[in-house]
Amino acid sequence: MKNTWRFGEREMHYIREVIDSGFGSSTSGGMNNRFEEAFAKKIGAKFAVTFNSGTSTLHAALHAVGVGYGDEVITSPLTVISNLDVIISLNAIPVFADIDPNSFNIDPKDVARKITPKTKAIMPISLYGVSCDLDPLMALGQEHGIAVINDAAEAFGALYKGQPIAEIADITSYSTENSKHIATGDGGIVVTNDEALAGKMRKYGSLGYAALKPTDGRIRSNKDIFQDPTYKRHDGLGYNYRMPEVAAALGLAQTERIEEFIQRRVDIAALYLDAVADCDYLIPQQVPGGCNNTFWTVAMRYERDDVSWQDFRRKYVDFGGDGIYAAWALLYHETVFASGEWRLHCPPLYETLEYAATGLCPNAEAIQPKIMQFVNNYGGVDEAAPMIEALRKTIGYFN
Ligand SMILES: Cc1ncc(COP(=O)(O)O)c(C=O)c1O
Repeated sequence: MKNTWRFGEREMHYIREVIDSGFGSSTSGGMNNRFEEAFAKKIGAKFAVTFNSGTSTLHAALHAVGVGYGDEVITSPLTVISNLDVIISLNAIPVFADIDPNSFNIDPKDVARKITPKTKAIMPISLYGVSCDLDPLMALGQEHGIAVINDAAEAFGALYKGQPIAEIADITSYSTENSKHIATGDGGIVVTNDEALAGKMRKYGSLGYAALKPTDGRIRSNKDIFQDPTYKRHDGLGYNYRMPEVAAALGLAQTERIEEFIQRRVDIAALYLDAVADCDYLIPQQVPGGCNNTFWTVAMRYERDDVSWQDFRRKYVDFGGDGIYAAWALLYHETVFASGEWRLHCPPLYETLEYAATGLCPNAEAIQPKIMQFVNNYGGVDEAAPMIEALRKTIGYFN
């Protein structure tokens, strides 16, 4: 698979602008601010802040809503390690809520059961391109004074009850790492309608510079002040999580083409779904009413006992398929967690916490080994056609 279709003249145009302007640093503000403005407008939020990954966005988001030592953050175990890492980085306590077996997204009923006086944030994931069930999650947030941070790294363009998801949660986070709907090499962008949260996130991601504004990443506005030996630059703690200007140039170009990128994935997904329409053991991820699926990947549940997951995949590859990805191991089954390595980050807080290896999230434990993710990140339906053919042949072979 070549990814060259993803980058064209528009990208080159904006990159050239950055280079011709003297290769602005990420604190010169130009291209990052343009990407942020265009993205916020397109995605349906008032404020956007660029980051160097969809992990650092989540770190800043949790910090902005006040997550700190000993606070609990509820998240799904069926996600990338980033969600766990950022909770632990803040010396907070990960709490795992189960998933819905059909949509694979976090189950608000289980979230409700896991709320305690220590809960500070809920971090659902809008998995694979389908919005999490935002209404009940937001209701829980309001009832208990808890922030909801929607990790939409994989869900550009997703709708919930017909509404763009970015309008709903307190903070919505996106990744622009290369496999995502828009790609800047690596990168992330986070959106909110709350000016104070935008300001806090920007500061956390840019070394706590006092001069930063919710809508402006520049740190040097007045040379006379900035060059003075008495000038104090930092009034908050933070990290350097800034997105380089060249990456922001890619982000701006790709934001302008976002509909095209989403449609391409939807069109390819439709072919996979057609191929399994009569297959009773490959059950596509359910899309709840009023939602769409913007298909970061085409995810299905493999429900066949007499042919193993691995044998099905092997045959698919034999027939020319590009492989099938499994879902990540559940967070609490990952080696770093199961081995207890993570506890070293903050022994006094973590040493006594108990997490059962099984039974913590029964649906997630049952579903994770069954998930098959079919690649749809191709340049078009022609490029995807051999994969669909391979899938049809595999189904036919095991009939
Ligand atoms: C659901 C989810 N959250 C967060 C991330 C982290 O994004 P990044 O790889 O840009 O750090 C990813 C992507 O890897 C993801 O799929």
